[in-house]
Amino acid sequence: MNTPNTETTLVRKSGTYKVYQDEFNVTDVLAAQSWWQINAHLDIINRYKVKLFIELGTYIGGIVTHIIPNIILDETFHYLGYEINSSVVHPKIKKFALQNPRCQLVLDNMFSESNLEYIRKRIAETSGTVYVFCDGGDKPKELLTFSTFLRKGDIISVHDYTDDQTGEIRDTDLAKIGKDFEYLDEWWRKDVVWLPTFIKVK
Ligand SMILES: C[S@@+](CC[C@H](N)C(=O)[O-])C[C@H]1O[C@@H](n2cnc3c(N)ncnc32)[C@H](O)[C@@H]1O
Repeated sequence: MNTPNTETTLVRKSGTYKVYQDEFNVTDVLAAQSWWQINAHLDIINRYKVKLFIELGTYIGGIVTHIIPNIILDETFHYLGYEINSSVVHPKIKKFALQNPRCQLVLDNMFSESNLEYIRKRIAETSGTVYVFCDGGDKPKELLTFSTFLRKGDIISVHDYTDDQTGEIRDTDLAKIGKDFEYLDEWWRKDVVWLPTFIKVK
């Protein structure tokens, strides 16, 4: 775990949450992420050699646009996205998923019994790192539910955290994750990028 020097002032302060709700737009497909959050996802996928990226809450499909090179060029990389509201997903993303077997979009409730079972199975069968991004309608529940499916070396992050504890996930929720998880790059992913991220260490 890396701890910042107390003199360091890169940590954001409260009251500016909306300022950071950038929408990173690639060919009209918006991502509800800031550019540094997009980079944080790509950094995990590429540096930890992720083989299965699960996005819980695909929305328009903006994150998919940023991992198209991984999906197309890396035959060992798979995307699995869940979106309960089919109408919000951009037609370009739906078409892309239909044409690319390594881009699987499930337009259904991630918490249905069959989807929970399928996600558990896909994680268990993946050879290599799995990265789960919690960005649906109940982040605390997603973090607690899907973290229990992970294996040593797998990674999970959660969106809509703010340092003033007004986001959809708070420090008290993060503290509930299993003791076999540690923060990944704690300082910058959680406090600067506002994307608390954990790696399962045993
Ligand atoms: C904040 S948006 C996701 C943003 C997206 N990850 C991005 O970066 O652009 C949350 C999405 O989660 C979806 N959602 C909420 N609950 C869900 C559930 N139980 N199963 C699947 N999708 C869900 C919502 O319909 C919504 O589109």
